[in-house]
Amino acid sequence: MAGANGGRKKVTVVGAGMVGGTVAQMLALRDYADIVLVDIVEGLPQGKALDLAQAGPVLGYDTRLAGTNGYAETAGSDVIVITSGIARKPGMSRDDLLRTNMGIVRSVTEQVVPGSPDAVVVVVSNPLDAMCHVAFDAAGLPRERVLGMAGVLDSARFRTFIAMELDVSVEDVSGFVLGGHGDTMVPLSRYSTVAGIPITELLPPERVRAIEERTANGGAEIVGLLKTGSAYYAPGTSVVQMVDAILLDKRRVLPASVLLQGEYGIEGLFVGVPVKLGAGGLTQIMEVTLTDAERAALHKSAGAVRELVDAMAGMD
Ligand code: NAI
Ligand code: 2OP
Repeated sequence: MAGANGGRKKVTVVGAGMVGGTVAQMLALRDYADIVLVDIVEGLPQGKALDLAQAGPVLGYDTRLAGTNGYAETAGSDVIVITSGIARKPGMSRDDLLRTNMGIVRSVTEQVVPGSPDAVVVVVSNPLDAMCHVAFDAAGLPRERVLGMAGVLDSARFRTFIAMELDVSVEDVSGFVLGGHGDTMVPLSRYSTVAGIPITELLPPERVRAIEERTANGGAEIVGLLKTGSAYYAPGTSVVQMVDAILLDKRRVLPASVLLQGEYGIEGLFVGVPVKLGAGGLTQIMEVTLTDAERAALHKSAGAVRELVDAMAGMD
């Protein structure tokens, strides 16, 4: 992908709130892309961009940051990250966010994509998989260039809990989570390992189940603690891992929400599965063998995404 910004890559982050601000901060530190922050709140993206630019001399990055309430400055972006919307409050499910965030995600996608027709769009707003549908429909881009971030975060939570349980380095833990970003997500313990050893060999079934459940409730656990919003450090960092994979053409194998067209027996739905990410976005969907129980859990999770997509159709 040719750099559209004088040789440097350009990333637009729509929504300069907690997740958007964290994405901008983590990406600024990486020092290979310039960043445009967009928000409807006047002064917020400008203030965060200036604050982050002023950290550059201390930390030694030359990332150029701009904040704006419009879209002119976003033109020619290589990646667009959509975090705009409202976040969960205690007692709210991700699905409660559906109607409000549907309108916001549609509107920002329609405004941001025309200026950056070659961009890869990474959706973060919740309910994640449903918002991927909204962005995909509004963007008019191929499925390779509209992806949702949730699996990296859910897997990171899974890996954290496994490392805590076994008192081992997180570096030695790999794990992944399939399905929609909701209570029905499917942590795949059989494919999750410590230094190559499946965790099902290292932990009794009841501990594995407890870790799976804590992972599925990982977002709600943080909401319950923070009380005024939802997680942002791990989500923002997870987005940056996807941006790295795309803009540095790393061909990372990461879980992401992508439009399935028959893979895993699922048709026409955004659902989290392991994919290869590189230049241009999605380069391959990795299909792994599932047991009957795992497949049933994945299809149940896809069913929850389908319900939201159907509900949105009724809201038009
Ligand atoms: P936040 O409330 O801190 O930030 C959202 C920002 O979006 C606000 O600054 C708001 O002014 C802005 N915004 C609202 N409407 C807009 C519009 N039309 N145009 C531009 N900006 C607009 O929320 P936070 O914590 O940053 O979360 C953002 C979203 O990401 C939420 O929907 C949240 O549920 C979701 N999320 C998703 C995760 C995932 O794994 N996919 C993880 C964490 C959060
Ligand atoms: C999370 O999982 C709220 O979806 C967000 O933290």
